[in-house]
Amino acid sequence: MCGIIAYAGQQARSNTILLEGLRALEYRGYDSAGLASVINGRIQVIKAKGKVSDLQDALAAAHAQSGTVGIAHTRWATHGEPNECNAHPHTNGIVTLVHNGIIENCQELKAELIQKGYSFHSDTDSEVAAAVINEAYQRCKDKQKTLAYAYTQLKGSFAFAILFADDPTSIYAMRKNSPLIIGIGTNETFIASDISAFLSYTNRYIELKHDEIAKVDERGAIIKTLDGDFIQKTIKKSDVQAHDITKGDFPHYMLKEIHEESHVITRLLERYMPHGVNDLMQTMDDFANIEEIHIVACGSAMYAGMIAKVLLEQKVRIRTICEVASEYRYANPLFHPHLLVVLISQSGETADTIAAMRLAKEHGVKTLALVNNRESTMAREADLFYEILAGKEISVATTKAYCGQVAWMALFAIKFALMRHQLNETEITVIQQELSQLSSQMEQLIHAPHYKAIAAAIAPYSDCYFIGRGLDYALSLEGALKLKEISYIHAEAYGAGEMKHGTISLITQGTPVIAIATDAALLDKTISNIKEVKARGAHVILIAADHLPVDKAVADEAIIVPHLNPFLQGITTIIPLQLIAYETAVQRGCEIDQPRNLAKSVTVE
Ligand code: F6R
Repeated sequence: MCGIIAYAGQQARSNTILLEGLRALEYRGYDSAGLASVINGRIQVIKAKGKVSDLQDALAAAHAQSGTVGIAHTRWATHGEPNECNAHPHTNGIVTLVHNGIIENCQELKAELIQKGYSFHSDTDSEVAAAVINEAYQRCKDKQKTLAYAYTQLKGSFAFAILFADDPTSIYAMRKNSPLIIGIGTNETFIASDISAFLSYTNRYIELKHDEIAKVDERGAIIKTLDGDFIQKTIKKSDVQAHDITKGDFPHYMLKEIHEESHVITRLLERYMPHGVNDLMQTMDDFANIEEIHIVACGSAMYAGMIAKVLLEQKVRIRTICEVASEYRYANPLFHPHLLVVLISQSGETADTIAAMRLAKEHGVKTLALVNNRESTMAREADLFYEILAGKEISVATTKAYCGQVAWMALFAIKFALMRHQLNETEITVIQQELSQLSSQMEQLIHAPHYKAIAAAIAPYSDCYFIGRGLDYALSLEGALKLKEISYIHAEAYGAGEMKHGTISLITQGTPVIAIATDAALLDKTISNIKEVKARGAHVILIAADHLPVDKAVADEAIIVPHLNPFLQGITTIIPLQLIAYETAVQRGCEIDQPRNLAKSVTVE
């Protein structure tokens, strides 16, 4: 949550660089924004409620000058409502800072500071952090010691970029459980929550770790331990390309990212099975002693895990639990030595999923992180790490990363099936053939003509239901989440047989119901459930696999998806659901890439 960008250079162009950085980071939060630039040695703060464009207007209205040094922030509110006062930067005394994270002991610290005569203007924990640092600095007048002390006082998670008014050519930075990297340019240095914020200037960066304090200026960065010892850091080179973070010709990142799904699959196959399915025996770890799997994740990542649970349990016959991380971590899970805990996460920074991973590790259980961001906390800390290879995902609603998660988990399930000799040669050949055709089938589905018309039938309604059984139920959950988060239509998914146990009372004339049917064994049952809602007036949109003998009259509209081996079926079937959500949200005039109240990376619990 929240995006940080800071800049120290030789040319007075801080506002341009900081605004550009904030725009790239806006996916992390977009309820208010602000920046502080050093102008003639003085720190000037400008903030605005709303988006980065509102901040840009505020800068123009104030005829704000640029400096050579500045810090900036785009916010996703945790403490205090989104307004100008709560927007960052926050100043206390000599300290001006931007903060990402949550200071958990904020109330205690604030009470102590009030006793000492401090007063506060905002509702934020970040202003309290600024006061903690200011108070410490008044006592010792040494910035390194001040920040080392503050590091130990502030509980919770934080990433800070900090200006001291008496040293306005430097920016200080430190982090705990929130990401922060330092970009090394030519005569200019950056600090940011992620590389997209400064990628047009440099792709060279150093990672700031816990218990480290950075002092950054135009010449580069000096990193020290909390005790003040110098740390020699390696400069890394990012392979993220500038075109990965632009929309190109697409109207929205979400649409661009759906179009990239087939590339994600191609990359995954090249990485994990360049010569064929049997490569999985070498390209993935040996899971020989694993007897049970817990899949733990949040949101869409958890729904990707639910597809995998169906495959692992029903096809491979390995006991599998799939649970949301915020429940799992408090559920006193039954850990044992033959358990593998699989964490799925696009960002690798989701607070609850990280906590679940650490819990499993504390109990000596092997953890596997399936993550898109290889520089993330989960990638670093899990025992095993696999990359989703989706490339940078910018739209807040995940599509291509989800698709990559479903695909990787399918390969993982196939690996288990191979290890257990559950696939014969014919089945392996079929899977191989289907995998080789997957990309082109995905392209065809993306370009299918139905989505706008189907969206027109959904867009006027305030509720929509998704039904399916087995794997199709897991897909329904993701379809409903996609629709609700970007179109703001209330959407719920049910196991198709469950509707009549209460929810069917909500079906009235025209209520849209999206039914998914890809499994021949469950078809008759699902068709009966479709008839039940249809009889109550539902407008049914059926997504069915092409091998099924479906009477199209059962539904009002139908989308036919290619039938695939169950291991692969989810990878393509999700595409119509994503595009229906997208087109519906477009028709309702919604802000596609930055839905209200959301942020891309949920680094708070
Ligand atoms: C929905 C969405 C979220 C994320 C969830 C987990 O479109 O993006 O539900 O899937 O917040 O995030 P990661 O995968 O970063 O752990």
